[in-house]
Amino acid sequence: MAAAKEEMYPKKILEYMEGYLVSKTLFTACELGVFDLLQDSEIPLAAADVARALNSSEDGMNRLLSACTGLDLLTTQNTADGPVLYSNTEMSSVFLTKSSPRSLYHSIDYNSNTMYLCWHYLPHAVREGKTQYEKAFGVSSKDLFEAVYRSDKEMVKFMWLMNSIWNVCGRDVISAFDLSPFRSIYDLGGCSGALARQCVKLYPDCTVTIFDLPKVVQMSREHFLSPEEDRISFHEGDFFKDSLPEADLYVLARILHDWTDERNVELLSKIHQSCRPGGGVLVVEALLSEDNSGPLTAQLYSLNMLVQTEGRERKGSEYAALLTRAGFTTVHIHNTGKIYDAVLGLKTGPPL
Ligand SMILES: C[S@@+](CC[C@H](N)C(=O)[O-])C[C@H]1O[C@@H](n2cnc3c(N)ncnc32)[C@H](O)[C@@H]1O
Repeated sequence: MAAAKEEMYPKKILEYMEGYLVSKTLFTACELGVFDLLQDSEIPLAAADVARALNSSEDGMNRLLSACTGLDLLTTQNTADGPVLYSNTEMSSVFLTKSSPRSLYHSIDYNSNTMYLCWHYLPHAVREGKTQYEKAFGVSSKDLFEAVYRSDKEMVKFMWLMNSIWNVCGRDVISAFDLSPFRSIYDLGGCSGALARQCVKLYPDCTVTIFDLPKVVQMSREHFLSPEEDRISFHEGDFFKDSLPEADLYVLARILHDWTDERNVELLSKIHQSCRPGGGVLVVEALLSEDNSGPLTAQLYSLNMLVQTEGRERKGSEYAALLTRAGFTTVHIHNTGKIYDAVLGLKTGPPL
């Protein structure tokens, strides 16, 4: 037995221990603009060319490009006696270049410059059972979104973060249930409108109103919504303080995971009151499995919610319980197999 233990090789533990090296390599290559430069270049480039163009040391760039190649983010071409030449892989050009419609650049930027700093205080968060915004950023506001939106710059960065994932996962959550009977839809906390855009694309008869805090709506109008999106409109308000307009369907995407059970029941009860009979609420979240075994992404997101918010990730049954407490009578749960899943709660009434 002892001999077997001595022969064990802790592959997983070594990978986990050094996982941050991988994240930081990706963050740095994105931040310095490596993938954008290689995309714009008509030809593969040597490390020296990349270093010159990005105002970096040749030695540092050489190592960064080599590590990106090991991570399958770049491909190499060996010339006879010249230097190694680098170009983007297909995955990098689709997801890591700023101009790509499916870019994750802004998510990576937020992970690198905000979340990574907060996660430094994960041990404190676990011990104290609360958000670490104050330690990480010196923000002492009691209001979660006052802290997240501590400057206009931070607000736009957060909005870009919210925006980018729906270009990758949005269609799956919007098509998880047939939403075609719901014509008037309110996306509560709809932010930059990325999910609203997926919604109007898939359901040609619906209109979507993005309900969000006034300054978010203003920013969204300025930076995110294009004029041709005429079935999308805005409503400025606070969903905890203001009354909610009547609608067929309310979307709550990544809203309930920010708050405690009590605040969620308060919000869901308000929605239930305003909802047309036969209408409902679509909750979009990363669901934890019922037996606590995974998925790992949702388990890690739940730690992230601890570090950054008042909330948590939950199981489908926990969302069903919140919806039932608020008055919704029928609840359907759909796991998409990707990061985000969908839960539909219906209000008693004739079908719409
Ligand atoms: C985690 S983000 C989710 C954004 C979007 N639903 C998505 O999934 O991409 C939370 C959103 O709720 C909005 N929000 C927070 N508190 C709010 C309130 N009291 N009233 C209205 N919107 C609020 C934020 O501005 C933000 O857009």
